[in-house]
Amino acid sequence: MNTRQTPEWPASDFTRVPFRVFMDEDIEQLEQERVFDRVWCYLGMAIEVPGPGDYIVAYVGRTEVVLSRDEEGRLAAFVNSCSHRGAQVVRRIRGNAMSHTCPYHQWCFGARGELLGLPLLRGVKGKGGMPEDFDKTAHGLKALRVEEYKGLVFGTFSPTIGSLHDYLGPRMRPQIDRIFDRKPRVLGYYRQRIPANWKLYLENLKDHHGALLHLFHATFGIARPTMTARVALDVERGHSFTHLADNDEDKVQVRAAYAGTEQYREDYRLDDPSFLQVEPDYDDRVTNVIMSIFPNLMLGQVANTFQTRAIRPKGKDEFELFWTYLAFEDDDDEAIEGKLRQSNFIGPAGYISLEDGEAGRMVQIGIASRPHDSSFVEMGGRGALEDADNISTEVAVRAFWKRYAEAMAIDGDDRR
Ligand code: FES
Ligand SMILES: [Fe+2]
Repeated sequence: MNTRQTPEWPASDFTRVPFRVFMDEDIEQLEQERVFDRVWCYLGMAIEVPGPGDYIVAYVGRTEVVLSRDEEGRLAAFVNSCSHRGAQVVRRIRGNAMSHTCPYHQWCFGARGELLGLPLLRGVKGKGGMPEDFDKTAHGLKALRVEEYKGLVFGTFSPTIGSLHDYLGPRMRPQIDRIFDRKPRVLGYYRQRIPANWKLYLENLKDHHGALLHLFHATFGIARPTMTARVALDVERGHSFTHLADNDEDKVQVRAAYAGTEQYREDYRLDDPSFLQVEPDYDDRVTNVIMSIFPNLMLGQVANTFQTRAIRPKGKDEFELFWTYLAFEDDDDEAIEGKLRQSNFIGPAGYISLEDGEAGRMVQIGIASRPHDSSFVEMGGRGALEDADNISTEVAVRAFWKRYAEAMAIDGDDRR
């Protein structure tokens, strides 16, 4: 990839990823126009804004938006930048208000972002004020289309994109349905700043590091390469999911899988094993579901933890990972207690998530020395992008890059 005008990709099967996509400011700006502004982007959950006037701040790429519910209970979203001179209007990350007044010159907007009124409209004593033809209805906050699927709320700036239902597609919807077969409730939030390009986290979600980087996972049987695995792709839409299920693994095979590494220690024990003794929420023995919806939503399960993770770019080499940590309405006290204990897996200091943040940072540091080089993505094979029944594969990483390159209008030229 060289300039904005003539981008190219070094392998048409996406087995190479040019490091520049993680470090180039032009590319990062182009992503806003070509990716984020044209897709359905996850904003939050409907249960976070249950009543009239409830709002939360969210992002479409780098664009700050507000998701809110109007007096009739309808969802709305608008850009958090004043239609007067651009100031940030809403300054709390969540709250309840039927109107939002910009602090600068006090233009006042309704729960759908419509302009309700402004001071000095007619000036003072017949002098000054807005021109006669000023039309309030033309100066609301910039609105997004909003749609919801199973309580997940998405917004888009695109006037032409099809329904959210179709955007999620037939491969991902059943996975979402599995998790939301019962009513969720929010247990809390984590916010994690990671000094890496946001797309490194997408790669992380889709690759095979789970049982390797995460010593805890491997040791205590949350994720191992010997588990029953499924990696499923929606190549057209850029989504994918990985499932891992417990299968009474053959200990010899587990040892063989980790031969030559220090990653698997059968002799390790937890002083307090209650952390791992939480009743499963589903009876399918699935220990990990890592779903990713193009471009930047992760939705999933690790043991008894359920969460959405919004991957929010903050520059070419920084992103925020915003976790909404979920339980279910019908969870009893013991189930909630189990989920709270297991929240030690996740978040910025979690047994697992801390390592993912560090992995992104390490890559961002490492590639700085090789800006014109590419990564090597051939685990699981080259060529066709197909589902896999094992996790020794990076096929979902390649599928992400295919969709990304299409969105960015970057062609592969097979210089591999
Ligand atoms: S910038 Fe918001 S009222 Fe002037
Ligand atoms: Fe991880």
